[in-house]
Amino acid sequence: MRFDTIILGAGAAGLMCAAHAGGRTLVIDHARAPGEKIRISGGGRCNFTNLYTEAENFLSHNPHFPKSALARYTQWDFIDLVNRYGIAWHEKTLGQLFCDDRSTQIVAMLVAEMERAQATLWLRTQVVELAHRDGGFTLQVEREGVRHALICRALVLATGGKSIPKMGASGFAYDVARQFDLAVTETRPALVPLTFPEGRFAPLAGVSIPARVSNGKAAFLEGLLFTHRGLSGPAILQISSYWREGEDIRIDLAPDSPVMEALRQARQTAGRVQITTALCQHLPARLVEYLAPQLGLSGRLADHSDARLAEICAALGDWPLIPSGSEGYRTAEVTLGGIATDGFSSTTMECSTVAGFYAIGEAIDVTGWLGGYNFQWAWASGHAAGKAIAAAQGT
Ligand code: FDA
Repeated sequence: MRFDTIILGAGAAGLMCAAHAGGRTLVIDHARAPGEKIRISGGGRCNFTNLYTEAENFLSHNPHFPKSALARYTQWDFIDLVNRYGIAWHEKTLGQLFCDDRSTQIVAMLVAEMERAQATLWLRTQVVELAHRDGGFTLQVEREGVRHALICRALVLATGGKSIPKMGASGFAYDVARQFDLAVTETRPALVPLTFPEGRFAPLAGVSIPARVSNGKAAFLEGLLFTHRGLSGPAILQISSYWREGEDIRIDLAPDSPVMEALRQARQTAGRVQITTALCQHLPARLVEYLAPQLGLSGRLADHSDARLAEICAALGDWPLIPSGSEGYRTAEVTLGGIATDGFSSTTMECSTVAGFYAIGEAIDVTGWLGGYNFQWAWASGHAAGKAIAAAQGT
């Protein structure tokens, strides 16, 4: 069977590419349904883009690589598409846009766009063999127990990264890239909770606070959640992309609160109050109780000099912690790293050494922050490849 384009992966990037590639397009996925990660994303409401998307919100060995695609298909283009389908949405925080109702509305919209472009979707289909031959590609696939031999002129790799293996995620994209002698950068779980030696934060499990988490490479002021196994919440997921084993992270526990000034004032008006009680105005009581022995928090406010109050505030504003690891691909939202961008055009997503071969979405070495950026990259890179294929094939 002959196709102009075969897209491997009916996820966010693959579906978007199929909507724009034109010609005779086949989308292949081993899953039972398209867009499964879209379905489970954002707690079932899909954080589908971010109002403030910029290339600075992405990690890549080549930070310039995402610029072109992001500029040519922006968050406003996707918002426009969502509006045309009458999908209601709202901004939750920090420019993050979510569906009012269900993320499946986004999947249905992308499938409708793909069908409008007359692309065909084969689900529950395994790629058994893949080769680059005579200026095109040949594939052996197995669908419902039947083998099919396929030929295409353009092949798009959109099979995503390794996060959530129980949904079928694997290193498939990287294996294909290596088969074509393309480099793959180091891959690791990202946007992932960080773990600490057993029991370290167990007394605080469930406590959440706004915090500024930094590590010299990046800083994020967002929510932080203590868990039985360590630290989670948006601020931790964000810094996890910048953290490496053995390194510390630093936490400002009261970034928005002028604690020093408040304690000095309280000392004047209520000097008999315990320092721990006074701190509970700014931090959850369980956290103050946990920190008290470590920071030597005891006695009345009146017994604390300015220097001692400053010492306490400095400790609260810069708590160094060394995570022992992360929760890994089991819970990571994305894979950091991937197919090296060096071998690809940033405008078309086409490989420079294997004509007609494209890689898009999470498979390639571009990883967004938490907050809708990863989907925006999937839409933008899928659109870039789709448009380039349509132009190259004159469709
Ligand atoms: P994606 O993973 O979407 O699609 C890959 C497709 O390829 C899948 O359909 C898969 O079945 C298929 N496939 C894989 N291997 C195959 C093989 N060997 N053969 C055939 N098919 C194969 N991002 C964001 O911006 N906002 C959010 O709210 C969230 N929320 C979120 C929650 C959770 C729990 C996770 C795990 C992830 C997120 N993300 C997110 C990240 C986001 O889901 C991710 O970055 C995009 O889905 C990546 O799009 P892709 O199309 O590249 O891969």
